[in-house]
Parts: sequence; structure tokens; C-alpha cells
Amino acid sequence: MKVFRLAPLALSIGTLFAGPALAVHPTLVDWKSVPAKTLTLFYPAQSTYQWLRSADHPGAQVVTGDGACLTCHKDQEEKLGNKLVKANKLEPTPVEGKNGVVKLSFQIAYDNENAYFRTQWKTNAKNPGEAYPFRRFDGKEWKPFGGPRLNKAVRGGEQPAIYEDRFSIMIDDGSVPGFANQGCWLTCHDGERDSRKQPSADEVKATAFFQAIKRNDVRKYLPSTRTDAMASWDKGKSPDEIAKIKAAGGFLDLMQWRAHRSNPAGMADDGYVLEWRNFDAGKNPFSSNFDAKTGQPKFMYDTKKVGKKAFAADDIRKVSTALIRGQNAVPFDPNAGWKGGELIPQYVVSREDAAGSAADNMHVQGVWKDGTWTVVWARPLNHPAHDDDKALTEGKVYNFAFAVHDDNITSRGHHISFPVAVGFGAKAAIEATKLK
Ligand code: HEC
Repeated sequence: MKVFRLAPLALSIGTLFAGPALAVHPTLVDWKSVPAKTLTLFYPAQSTYQWLRSADHPGAQVVTGDGACLTCHKDQEEKLGNKLVKANKLEPTPVEGKNGVVKLSFQIAYDNENAYFRTQWKTNAKNPGEAYPFRRFDGKEWKPFGGPRLNKAVRGGEQPAIYEDRFSIMIDDGSVPGFANQGCWLTCHDGERDSRKQPSADEVKATAFFQAIKRNDVRKYLPSTRTDAMASWDKGKSPDEIAKIKAAGGFLDLMQWRAHRSNPAGMADDGYVLEWRNFDAGKNPFSSNFDAKTGQPKFMYDTKKVGKKAFAADDIRKVSTALIRGQNAVPFDPNAGWKGGELIPQYVVSREDAAGSAADNMHVQGVWKDGTWTVVWARPLNHPAHDDDKALTEGKVYNFAFAVHDDNITSRGHHISFPVAVGFGAKAAIEATKLK
């Protein structure tokens, strides 16, 4: 299909194989020899850290004592997801037509250099969610166009639902207290975007802690970075104390494959969760396509490659809309005769621009076919020089947690797994296959 003409498959074999220590490209692993585990990911609604410890949750006492969710919720993913996705006390803004669970097939292998992942899931939408919100020319200015389904403007019908599909992996090596038992729920708190008790932007900005960490919204964080028993979003430790937790390894690796902002570059991003949902040091494969001062685009589509300099609303989901530097993008020309309604992506994607620890996931390929994404991925086992990654070592067991963002959604509108133990040459619920 036309969608991927300009996307990952267009990368030359030379590009795909470039980069350090790549023994086997993930597309070349003999995946038939690697067992597939099916995980049931479910919709968590607003089941935050604070709600789970409140009188409204019958398991509060055990959860407060760091007990495992699975003590009481084993094999309940379907039941939980199908209930929580509909209007209920934990879902004030249900998304129409949303599924309660996603079945995720996951395979994992390794050799002396890399871990290799292969994953598959069915999308709710009848097309790959490869679009990301645009900016639309209104005859004068470039205004935001489209957004994720939980956004107020999208819920109210003022903006169309547009967001990229994602597949995320969190990894704990045992250094984050409680993660083996409670997984994702350690990172999900009241105050975060689309969550319970979300503060206004002004309230966040007025908080000393957020001034200290130079952020203006609340995203995933670990309880260890807060000072009170309830790990409140606004009660953070000092940057010095947080740096000490990081140096001791008390963070989670968080890597996200993104259908619009990383897949066209043959990559996934690389981040970590500590006091916020941070990106690793260096540069992502995506960056803003709009100049913050002038509000003008930096790049537009190359007419010779794409057939037009901008897309229209009707084009979305019929063709690939990623704007890729060096492939289908040229510098923005303000005098190109812009008409109201023309759309230019908010981000520009580039494999060549990605750098440093943020560019660790250089060998990733996602293909959407017949309603299913298949993503294959090579991730170096170890990054000795990086202080924001987890090393994977033979003989050890790690706690993984997975998420899929499906059908034009972001933030908490995902489907997630309970934590699962993954062993590399060690006994665990999922045992990685050693490649010969
Ligand atoms: C000691 C047992 C226990 C533990 C441990 C426990 N829960 Fe619960 N949880 C319950 C019970 C009982 C309910 C009520 C279920 C019902 O009403 O059907 C519940 C309800 C929930 C609900 C709301 C579902 C609904 O039906 O409204 C969510 C979400 C939830 N738990 C998540 C978790 C998570 C995540 C963890 C781990 C961090 C956890 N629970 C740990 C016992 C427990």
C-alpha cells in the first residue's frame, strides 16, 4: 500500500545496518524459533497510585504494603479492561467505541550484543495510526489541527481525533522498589495529564518543585522522587537528591516505538522515568517543525516526492504523512502561495539528526498489514557510557511492563500490562531465547 512508500521500507539496507554492534538486524532473526507469549493489555482508566491507596479500592491496604496486584487480580485483565473502558467512577470521559483489552503477542531473543523484540497487535482502527496532529493554515496563521481523543477539544467535536499509534516498554532491573509487584501503577499519579485532579498549567508553573525541574506539566514519575507518603505530584525532592537516585540506578528505562515520529526513521525513542517522563541525553529522531518565535513551519513536503507541498484533511490516513528530512521534506517557502486549510506536520523526523543516548534504538521496523502492527526491534544489551539506560545481563531477571496506544490516543488512554518477569538465561515468566 501507498502508506509506507516513504517510510521505513524505503531505507536502504546500508542505512538499516549502520550503527554500532549490530549482530543481526531484527528483521533477520529466525522468529519462528522464538516462542510467542500473549499478554492481555487492559484499559486502566484513572486507577492512579493515589486511588489504589484510597478507601475506594478494596486492595488499598495490601497495595500500601507494596503487595502485588496479581495477588487479587490474576487473570482479571479482560474483566478490568472491559469495565474500566466504559463510564464508571474511574472513567469520567469514556471514549466511544474503545476496546477494553488488546492482545499483545511478544517475542524476545538475545545474543552477545543485543536483545531482539518482536511484537504484534490488532489495531482498533481500519488503518495504521501513523498520523500526528498538524498545524493548519487559516489564511494568516498556522493553528493546531487535530489531537488525541481524550483532549477536550476533540471530545467536544471542535478538533478531529489524530494521534500516532505507539508501543512502549518499561524495564526495571530490581532497583525501583515495588515495580516487580505493581509495575506501571508506580508511575501513574493524580495530577498527570488527563488524570484525576489535574492541576492547571498556572498551578504547575507556580509550584517550586516544577520550577526547579523546569517542567510545566505533570508526567509519569516514581514515588521515590517525592517527599510525602502519598507521593504527591507537587511535593518533590531537590534536584540533588533526585540526581543521587538516578546515579544509584533507581529509574525505569522507557522506550517507545512511535508510528509517526520514530518508525519512519527506522527507530524507537529512548527515555527514562524518574521525577518526570524524561528523554535520554542527546537528540530524538523527531523535533518540532515550527519556529517557536515566528510560528512558521521549518519544513514542508517536497512536491517532487509527495505531489504537493502540504496535505489536506481528506488525505489523512490515506497516505503516509510523516515529514522526513532528507527524504520528502524541503525548507519551508513562505511565498509558495499558501491557501487556507493546508496542513503541515508539527514534527519533522530524521534518523540522521538523532544522537547520543536518545538514539540507542536505531534498528526498529514496524509494518501495518491487514489490521495488525508487527514491530521488530534490536536494542543493545548494554550502554556502558550511558547513565540513563538499563543494562541487560545474562543470568538476570528484569521486570518489564508494556503499553499500546491505539486509535488516536495518548496519555492514560492506553492499554497496559501487569508487570512481567523476563529472564535472560534465567528462570522467569518469559525467558528470552539465546540466538546461536
Ligand atoms: C488485596 C487484594 C487486592 C490487591 C492487592 C489489589 N486489588 Fe485492586 N481491587 C481489589 C478488589 C476486591 C476490587 C473490587 C473488585 C470489584 O468490585 O469487582 C479491586 C478493584 C480494582 C480496580 C477497579 C475495578 C473495578 O471493578 O472498578 C482496579 C483498577 C484495581 N483494583 C487495580 C489494582 C491494581 C493496579 C493493583 C496493584 C497495584 C491492585 N488493584 C491490587 C483487590 C485488590
